[in-house]
Amino acid sequence: MSEMPQVRHPLEFLEGHHDRQRLICVALETLAQEPTSKTAPETARMILAYFERELPLHIADEEKDLFPLIRERCDEDDGFDEIVAMLEEEHDSDMDLHSRLVPALKLLADQTGLETIDVFARDAISFATLQRRHLAWENGAVLPLARQCLSQEDLDGMAKSMTARRQGA
Ligand SMILES: [Fe+2]
Ligand SMILES: [Fe+2]
Repeated sequence: MSEMPQVRHPLEFLEGHHDRQRLICVALETLAQEPTSKTAPETARMILAYFERELPLHIADEEKDLFPLIRERCDEDDGFDEIVAMLEEEHDSDMDLHSRLVPALKLLADQTGLETIDVFARDAISFATLQRRHLAWENGAVLPLARQCLSQEDLDGMAKSMTARRQGA
C-alpha cells in the first residue's frame, strides 16, 4: 500500500512541489546530456516515478482546487484570468511532452533501444525550459494572489481535497 500524505498547508505544499520540479528539470537536462552515464538508469527511474504519479496530481491540485478558488475570490481586474488560461494551456503541453518522454525514459532506465530516442534530448530540454517559466509565474503571481485572497476556510477545503486526491478518493 502506498503512503498517503496528509496535506496540511496547501500553498506551502504546492510551493514545495515547485522546488521538486526544479530538481526534475536539472535531472532531465543531465540525462539529455549524458544518456548513457552510470547514473542514467536511476535518474530515468526517478523522473518516471515523478511523471507517473506526482505531476498529474499537482496539475489536478492547481486546476481543480487552486485556480477555481482564486477565480471565485479575487477581483476581475487583476489579470488572473489571462495568466490562468496560459498556465492551463501549458499544463496541456506538459502532458503532451510527458507522453513522449515516458517511453524514452523507460528505455533509458533499461539502457536499451537508445538509438530510437533521438528526440529525447530536445523534448527533455523543451520540458525543462517550459517548466521553469511556468513555475516562475506560479510562484511569482499565482501563489502570492492566493495568499492575499483565500480565507482560512478556503485553505482548509483545499487541504482536504488535495489529501483525498492522494488517497485515491
Ligand atoms: Fe502548474
Ligand atoms: Fe505548479
